[in-house]
Amino acid sequence: MSITIKTPEELALMRIAGRLAGEVLDHIQPFVVPGVTTAELDRLCHDHMVHNQGCIPAPLNYAPPGYAPYPKSICTSVNHQVCHGVPNDRPLKKGDIVNLDITTIKDGWHGDTSRMFSVGDAASILGKRLMVITHECLWLGIAAVKPGAHLGDIGAAIQRHAEKNGFSVVREFCGHGIGRKFHEEPQVLHYGKRGDGIKLEPGMIFTIEPMINAGKAAVSELPDGWTIVTKDRSLSAQWEHTVAVTETGVEVLTLSAGAPPNPFPT
Ligand code: MF3
Ligand code: CO
Ligand code: CO
Repeated sequence: MSITIKTPEELALMRIAGRLAGEVLDHIQPFVVPGVTTAELDRLCHDHMVHNQGCIPAPLNYAPPGYAPYPKSICTSVNHQVCHGVPNDRPLKKGDIVNLDITTIKDGWHGDTSRMFSVGDAASILGKRLMVITHECLWLGIAAVKPGAHLGDIGAAIQRHAEKNGFSVVREFCGHGIGRKFHEEPQVLHYGKRGDGIKLEPGMIFTIEPMINAGKAAVSELPDGWTIVTKDRSLSAQWEHTVAVTETGVEVLTLSAGAPPNPFPT
């Protein structure tokens, strides 16, 4: 397979799927409080997607080669969990930081976005700084997207900002093309060198979803076959948007009323 270029009509459909994914995060935000379980957050998001939005939650039963079918409708990655955390019956505690990752399918098209939440608004100084810097990394990556730029420009911008702040970039997982399929080409690395990789063209649609660790970059997989954690048990944060390359620059498809704004508006 190669990179699919979306037509204006397809872009319009991805705008809808993307906004709906963002709106799931808006909907769930008030429920992310001390004592709630991630299984309960999963159930609330599932019901909202299926019954209010008429969407299919893409993670449910998703089974890429070599993986068992994913058992839930969203991913919930807490503290030292990096990504793909599987919702369970443990309650969230005041001071936890948690990533909620939502992927909707609307009329056959995918929208993929994630945000960090500070449970009880009580994250540690380090946790807060990690969430803020990772959000800045996402938006510096987005700012590198325009026709003629290279894929490596995105990773370089993210890596520079993370490492300048004493954090490290997870290497094993990356952003991805997205459209009719959940994960398409290209792979969007969150590290690299300016000028490396393919040139961006209008109509390309992909995610940028940096995973940034407070400690070392190394990760491992839990026995559930899905949950990824930092090897050194340090905190990890992630933010994700789905973006389209336009004739003039970039359009973020997963914005919604409650999405935190670009910290570097132009
Ligand atoms: N939403 C994740 C991503 O950003 C993928 C999750 S796959 C799942 O690519 F099966 F764990 F849901
Ligand atoms: Co993604
Ligand atoms: Co995602």
